[in-house]
Amino acid sequence: MAGTETRLRIAIQKSGRLNEDSVQVLKDCGIVIDNGKDQLKASARNFPLEVLYLRNDDIPQYLEDGVADIAIVGENLLVEKQRNVQVIQRLGFSKCRLSLAVPKDAAVNGLNYFNGKRIATSYPATLRKFLADNGIGADIHEISGSVEIAPNIGLADAICDLVSSGSTLFKNGLEEAHVILKSEAVLAAGPNLSVEAKEILQKLTFRLTAVLRARRSKYILMNVPNDRIDIVSRILPVLKSPTVMPLAEEGWSSLHSVIDEDKFWDVIDELKANGAEGILVVPIEKMVV
Ligand code: PRP
Repeated sequence: MAGTETRLRIAIQKSGRLNEDSVQVLKDCGIVIDNGKDQLKASARNFPLEVLYLRNDDIPQYLEDGVADIAIVGENLLVEKQRNVQVIQRLGFSKCRLSLAVPKDAAVNGLNYFNGKRIATSYPATLRKFLADNGIGADIHEISGSVEIAPNIGLADAICDLVSSGSTLFKNGLEEAHVILKSEAVLAAGPNLSVEAKEILQKLTFRLTAVLRARRSKYILMNVPNDRIDIVSRILPVLKSPTVMPLAEEGWSSLHSVIDEDKFWDVIDELKANGAEGILVVPIEKMVV
């Protein structure tokens, strides 16, 4: 029947650290969403997806209740809220950590320092479990925002908060004392997806996998003397053998491959030492293997 086509409902942050990157990753998947910043809901033009812009803290509950089928959300929030939701895919952006932090002049001598201290946080459940697991008795002061000012106004001796660049801690005269949890954005799903929703999810994760793989990889091209092709190929940390094409200049070839960006810097000197020249590293937009 016209107009009753199933749409996968995805929740993303209405505002906050994940919002822009979440919209971008969907865009990179070729999904066009008519964006309205003040809209609560938007439909994708060319993919059966409905985007719900929600308050971050509410997303795990909405997933469990089936208001949204899937969501892009920080792992840290899923750990804190303990709802019946499943992580489908790690998305590699919005990396941060949940850490204990103290005033710069505090003499922290291990976790025992926190015994008997007052710790302000918006992550009481995660902190409570961490303290219990480590046998630390501390007072947890739950506050919903601006946790970093708590020590300066005498509300707490320490905080447990998200740290990304560290600039919020620095600006407030605090320093990181212990990392409790490492987090990044993930794609999560609620417990009761329909068969149709699962099929759409599969199409979406296929696209996401291609986009994320491309983000981690670079296309590399270089000119290599023919008698060095074997050795240079062996240096390149790639799964498949590279493409080799003859150059107009006698005795030289152009060698092409795909490489993990992180690994490129480890091998660059060795490539040059073995005769590679004119090395180009270029971004890849999508990568389907
Ligand atoms: C977190 C956290 C800090 C800030 C840390 O807030 O509460 O305020 O990020 O980031 P930085 O180390 O790069 O300075 P977030 O932006 O997630 O919003 P929130 O206040 O709603 O938690």
